[in-house]
Amino acid sequence: MLKINLGSIIQSILWVIDPFFYTKKSPAVIHSIMFLRKIKIIAAFMFVTTGFHAFSQNMVTIPIETRENALVMQTDKDNHLAIIYFGRKLSLAAEYQSIPIQTRQQDGNSGIYNSAYTPSGTWNVSEPALQVTHADGNKSLDLVYISHKTSKENDNVSTISILLKDPVYPVEVTLFYKIYSNENVIEQWSVIHSEEKSALTLQKYASANLYFIAKDYYLTHYNGTWAREMQPEEEQLTAGIRVLDSKLGTRANLFQPPSFLLSFDKPATETEGKVLLGTLAWSGNFRTDFEVDSYHNLRLISGINNYASEYPLASKQDFKTPSFIYTYSENGKGDASRNLHNWARKYRILDGEGSRLTLLNNWEATYFDFNEEKLSALFKDGKKLGVDLFLLDDGWFANKYPRNDDHAGLGDWQENIKKLPNGIGHLVKEATSAGIKFGIWVEPEMVNPKSELYEKHPDWVIKQPARPEHYMRNQLPLDLSNPEVQTFVFGVLDKLFTENPNIAYIKWDCNAITFNAYSAYLEKSKQKQSQLYVDYVRGLYKVLEKLRAKYPKIPMMLCSGGGGRVDYEALKYFTEFWPSDNTDPMERIFMQWEYSYFFPALAQSNHVTDWGKQPLKFRTDVAMMGKLGYDIVVSHLNEKDLKFSQQAVYTYNSIKDVIWHGDLFRLVDPKKNDYAALMFNSKDKKRAVLFSYLVNNRYASGSDVPFKLQGLDPVKKYKVKELNLYPDSKTSIKEDQTYSGDYLMTIGFNPVVSTRRTSVIVEITTVD
Ligand code: DGJ
Repeated sequence: MLKINLGSIIQSILWVIDPFFYTKKSPAVIHSIMFLRKIKIIAAFMFVTTGFHAFSQNMVTIPIETRENALVMQTDKDNHLAIIYFGRKLSLAAEYQSIPIQTRQQDGNSGIYNSAYTPSGTWNVSEPALQVTHADGNKSLDLVYISHKTSKENDNVSTISILLKDPVYPVEVTLFYKIYSNENVIEQWSVIHSEEKSALTLQKYASANLYFIAKDYYLTHYNGTWAREMQPEEEQLTAGIRVLDSKLGTRANLFQPPSFLLSFDKPATETEGKVLLGTLAWSGNFRTDFEVDSYHNLRLISGINNYASEYPLASKQDFKTPSFIYTYSENGKGDASRNLHNWARKYRILDGEGSRLTLLNNWEATYFDFNEEKLSALFKDGKKLGVDLFLLDDGWFANKYPRNDDHAGLGDWQENIKKLPNGIGHLVKEATSAGIKFGIWVEPEMVNPKSELYEKHPDWVIKQPARPEHYMRNQLPLDLSNPEVQTFVFGVLDKLFTENPNIAYIKWDCNAITFNAYSAYLEKSKQKQSQLYVDYVRGLYKVLEKLRAKYPKIPMMLCSGGGGRVDYEALKYFTEFWPSDNTDPMERIFMQWEYSYFFPALAQSNHVTDWGKQPLKFRTDVAMMGKLGYDIVVSHLNEKDLKFSQQAVYTYNSIKDVIWHGDLFRLVDPKKNDYAALMFNSKDKKRAVLFSYLVNNRYASGSDVPFKLQGLDPVKKYKVKELNLYPDSKTSIKEDQTYSGDYLMTIGFNPVVSTRRTSVIVEITTVD
């Protein structure tokens, strides 16, 4: 920032002319005064220019730029680091430094609103990013800029780290900004370090602190519960703080996920408007504060929820926060989410650019009631259906307290000898000889009180020692802050894989939240109870890290009795997630639509089940917009349904590459229309798959007029073909006509969705 110090200029002028008014004007005196004046003028000039130069040189400006956007920080006269810009990047980076001249960003009463990482207990009194109690009990913290550096991983990925220090206490914070340039994604985290003599206490320790200036702010966040996940609400943010958070511990996302959309100026649409998609990569309690300050600017602070989670930081130790991940677009929500999908597939989701397995799950087909014969028949059914894998669900384990319902056995991971006298190995063999891969369900973080594990290790369980136990689905979480428990959980999976190397898939479930948060291990090891929520998640990551070191590739589904336990830290270890137990396709259209803002289709497991009243074709068409699976009794399908389903799996295999790796365009929003429509386009724009679903059954509802397609090549010619028709039914689409991409994107296309054709899938391919 260039600021001319007017005061010193005026003072200098007075200092130069002053002698004229007080000295006698004899020629000799005038001569010497004139000489003196010259020297003073030169000195004054030098003082002003060098002072000005030194001042402007001390201002450090740090632009964090992606291909299209910039987050710019700058130090002020006291060396505090503030955010001076967030938005589309400027072509002349040097011009960032003049932004603050025209912008009111500070406040004399509350300190600096736009701090890049707001400390607490000193000059700042607004919501902090970092709040500590020093080893001596003092609660003040200041952070001044020390240095920054850039490290480049490759042409696309680099990390800028900025070191801040407290001038009084030996505490420092390094802010990290990992830039994925082409994807316009920034991954941001902080590392807090202390050199105090003994441990200090972290009271709040955010991952990211951002600052936005816009006319207005519109936040879309999600709420829900079991079977009602991802219910969106959009609200205009007004003065004060709006908090999105979770205090549920183990399955933290049950009522609210850590993902949100934030529109600037006005609500963004799919194709227009300024929008940020943000999410915290953390599988536990999270908290994001949105504060509209007294200048109507927006402060955002996101990180681990500090609720009941004061965390000790020992001397010479680091505390690394989880990553806050965000992308920004000035071209609407569609562009922003495609950027996030590209990033997630390339850089984050395990095997994100790879393939996935279609499967038949037995949960809704058998629940706990199965044996080897039944399962062998199901393997054959899966093969008949044409899917890649059979997934054996809950109920295969425990003997003293057999797992015949959800009241007992969880924790006792030995095959139930009544149901499976020949063990898992036999099942894997049977499946293989039926020509299908074999996968298995586990819920290794949990225990039923009615189990041998609980009897043997009551101290491994999260529960208050002096209070009655409180259950969700008759179970309790194990204490993953305890290294012994981590070893146990790793061992559950390791034993399965070691004994049965051909197991090809894992469904990792987690059905209870954390009540009565208390750890016998933390007590015994003289650590703080307030570490539990954080150490649980860290313990989980340790297990997953170890598992992936030994079994790097095996696909795993992250499931949480629905509840959408999904975030971008867990997805480093998992290939997919289970969005909800609610597989009623009508509900799923809406949920899958909302999840699709944050997660690409290849990570969303969608199963065809018997939920809902819709015909099999509708259920199948809805499941196809993600990773297709089945949870039905194949042998109960009538001839036509079976033929349709076999054909559907075959069709899916022919289009799955476009769905998994292509670009998603959400075209017609089911929340505002009679029907939903979305399309996936291959990166080379040669192929696209269009899905449309009727969501309103009132008289004459449907697609009367064409709607505009997106993402095609305007000069290419395309032909259209309806896919996944039910046996003996005919298409209503004129398939012998070709259209230019320009036509399809300007005039549009009508798949003729109606009460008689409630779901329609259309393949759009270039004409060679
Ligand atoms: C909850 C999951 O969401 C279901 O799919 C199933 O695996 C059950 N748990 C098994 O207990």
